[in-house]
Amino acid sequence: MKSIPSVPSEARRRIEVRPDQTIALGPRADAPVEVFSTPSLILLLELAAKDLLAPHLEAEEDSVGVSVEITHTAPTPRGGWVEATARLVAVQGRQFDFELLAFDAAGEIGNGRHRRAVVSLSKFEDALAKRTSPRTEGLTPTLPAVPATVAVRGGVEAGVARLVLNRPGSLNAMDRSMTGDLEAWLAYLEHPTCPVRVVVLSGEGRAFCAGEDIKENAALDADASIALAGRRGQVCRRLAALPHPVIAQVQGPCFGGGLMLALAADLLVASHSATFGLPEVKLGWPPAYTLDAVVARVGRLGARRLALQGETWTAAQALELGLVDRAVAENQLPSEGARAVNDVLRLPALAFAETKRLLADLGPAGVGGDLGRTLDAYARCRRHPDAAAGMRAFLEGRNR
Ligand SMILES: CC(C)(COP(=O)(O)OP(=O)(O)OC[C@H]1O[C@@H](n2cnc3c(N)ncnc32)[C@H](O)[C@@H]1OP(=O)(O)O)[C@@H](O)C(=O)NCCC(=O)NCCS
Repeated sequence: MKSIPSVPSEARRRIEVRPDQTIALGPRADAPVEVFSTPSLILLLELAAKDLLAPHLEAEEDSVGVSVEITHTAPTPRGGWVEATARLVAVQGRQFDFELLAFDAAGEIGNGRHRRAVVSLSKFEDALAKRTSPRTEGLTPTLPAVPATVAVRGGVEAGVARLVLNRPGSLNAMDRSMTGDLEAWLAYLEHPTCPVRVVVLSGEGRAFCAGEDIKENAALDADASIALAGRRGQVCRRLAALPHPVIAQVQGPCFGGGLMLALAADLLVASHSATFGLPEVKLGWPPAYTLDAVVARVGRLGARRLALQGETWTAAQALELGLVDRAVAENQLPSEGARAVNDVLRLPALAFAETKRLLADLGPAGVGGDLGRTLDAYARCRRHPDAAAGMRAFLEGRNR
């Protein structure tokens, strides 16, 4: 700017109200009541403010409106005159605040406040070009690539993502590769242009998931094991936070981290062969994450029975105590899963997502709201010699 205008100072504009500055009122199109319109009043006031700044600007600068608040208090007829006054009352850097006042022949017709900013025209034109040119490559929404994973076998068809935990030789125990695969799938599912409508989680072979891979854990140092548990906690939290419906289809053992994964789903369908437990305490540590999801389902009492007393629940018990939503015969699990998918596909996606979010935000228990504290407890215990002894006992087949 060449100079800063003094405060206070004023600029005025006066016009005679033309037909294109009026709004036609009343029911008769052939004989409307024509009065000075509010947008025309705003423009007139804004131009008065612009006039005040103009002599102070460099050649490649101009002023633009930032905000306007106006009250239009009286009508002015077509052909009448209106005078607008913009009074500069404050300057802050390149921003200028005005008080506005407008009169016609009969008196005041409006007042208000207005802020303008001085901009460099070249920068302004750049910003304008970005908004008017067609979307460039970087902005064009691209579909994310479907992850190619092995420890989780996955595919997407007709809006349904099917993720199959795929380490049947060890009852789909969750190792590092499965953790990484689940993270890859979550990144895909969380992508804003992901075409998935429903996620179905299941296990290959006779189990859903026997929890974390104890053989792998036994070979890791405590820090690596704790870091891995933290990642798995995030996997459960992110899975539960997906806006899509998530359905877990569970058969056979569903233990420890496997149960936490299943409980991150919105609907848990189990076959009669399913068994559920949280045997971590026997190994020498507490559940490392999302115990809140267990409490949300079966309350503290149920969580105590699973996590402290080491109970293993059958599908029937799990259904009765609210840990699962449905329990069906083994051979009906696929068809029951398919029915659940069809049911949720019929629901409006936005309404489902909003309701899911509301339920997650309500009340004390969510999924993963307490990750820090549970992981700390796991870390303390995983570093203790009892943990090594517990894993040794499992590996030697003594505490199953
Ligand atoms: C789930 C369970 C009750 C099923 O018992 P089962 O039907 O008799 O099956 P097995 O114990 O023979 O397990 C089958 C195979 O999977 C392996 N396996 C099962 N759970 C495993 C785990 N969590 N980590 C690594 N390997 C596991 C077994 O070592 C066995 O492998 P092998 O055939 O090479 O010996 C039993 O495997 C078990 O207690 N697993 C551990 C559960 C657990 O503590 N999870 C960790 C919580 S964080």
